[in-house]
Amino acid sequence: MSDVSVPNDVTLMEKVVNLSKRRGFVFPSAEIYGGFRSTYDYGPIGVQLLRNVKDAWWRSMVQMRDDVVGLDAAILSPPAIWEASGHLKNFTDPLVDCRQCRERFREDQLDDLTICPGCGGKDTFTEARNFNLMFKTHAGPVESDAAVAYLRPETAQGMFINFSNVLQSSRKKPPFGIAQIGKSFRNEITPGNFVFRTREFEQMELEFFVPPEEALQWYEYWCATRYQWYIDLGIPESKLRMRPHDADELSHYSSGTSDVEFLFPWGWGELEGIANRGDYDLTQHATHSGEKLDYFDQATNSRYVPHVIEPAAGATRTMMAFLLAAYDEEEVRGETRTVLRLHPRLAPYKVAVLPLSKKEDLMPMAREVLALLQPHLMCDFDETQAIGKRYRRQDEIGTPFCITVDFDSLEDGAVTIRERDTTEQVRVPIADLSIEMFRRLGF
Ligand code: GAP
Repeated sequence: MSDVSVPNDVTLMEKVVNLSKRRGFVFPSAEIYGGFRSTYDYGPIGVQLLRNVKDAWWRSMVQMRDDVVGLDAAILSPPAIWEASGHLKNFTDPLVDCRQCRERFREDQLDDLTICPGCGGKDTFTEARNFNLMFKTHAGPVESDAAVAYLRPETAQGMFINFSNVLQSSRKKPPFGIAQIGKSFRNEITPGNFVFRTREFEQMELEFFVPPEEALQWYEYWCATRYQWYIDLGIPESKLRMRPHDADELSHYSSGTSDVEFLFPWGWGELEGIANRGDYDLTQHATHSGEKLDYFDQATNSRYVPHVIEPAAGATRTMMAFLLAAYDEEEVRGETRTVLRLHPRLAPYKVAVLPLSKKEDLMPMAREVLALLQPHLMCDFDETQAIGKRYRRQDEIGTPFCITVDFDSLEDGAVTIRERDTTEQVRVPIADLSIEMFRRLGF
């Protein structure tokens, strides 16, 4: 993938937001009712891209390893979990209200604590109070205290509370990990920047349980491995950095955290945090639940509480970073060509099958080509408009290859493959097409 060559990064953001709506990546939610602030729906192309981001993560974190297993835990959860994890007490942001315009702000995000950025009022803020970010609801028909439930604000706790279940059922032993992808919910005070910070989002988290003396070594391993994942999927090194937290930034349980950051149009922003959480989580849940959450090592005849290394990434936020990094424009014969240079593994469609014309004679062969590839690859099929316009549309949604069936195909049994990044075209016999596509896609 080339580095982004778009001249102005403020317009890059606008261009990507516009493209997302126009081509069906991301729509503002509840638009026909005037919208619902900072919530988004993923359209026909976006749902594929998001799924591919999650699949790429699952492939690298679960499928390609024999020391990690998966989990899909409940989103609705009882207060006891969040009492033990510390979220009921600590998962708060300091909130101030402006007495003049009534707007609310996060105190820690204000440049000047004496001036309201909403109305310009001076010394109009209330005292800061802690605002808990968890969404609270009631399970069942009675809205009593006994029925209180929370939407999980992170997927991580599902892994800790299932530690014994997974240990016993999977017969893994430390070092081993539990991975999960799923929705999380936070009542953010200042959501914004498109899907960067939303109240409903998806996370991809791994809790990796290790013997205490191996914690530092695994922390370093996961920092390096996770950084490389983004590079391998096409984020240019100039737009990615690893930032270790300063001591005063560390969570109370963490002895080390580093963020993988992406250079967004407004500056560096976190894609993922890798934390050395020690034995905090298992110890907390063991204390609060009364259950033993430790590991008996038969080799040394000793019992210990594993330490946890946690690489915690955001799927929706990462999808946005891939979109921004892939967006490119170039001049082709006096016209601007917009192209998403997405890694083939992430591209929503791998291939578009395009009959040159809508004429009846080409359709059976075009459908045959589609039927050949569709069981193996996500394919688009487009018979509308002039071929040039159809190529442009596929470029804009990042399809790596277009396959054109033309009138010569009826004679020579071959089709034209057009490559997204170079626009180069080659002729390939249909008999060799499947192998050729896999060779070119690289998987
Ligand atoms: N279990 C640790 C944990 O949840 P986090 O840094 O709060 O750590 C992990 O969240 C990742 O989840 C972040 O790096 C970010 O990518 C994503 N994330 C967090 N809050 C988000 C939000 N409001 N909107 C979108 N993504 C979010």
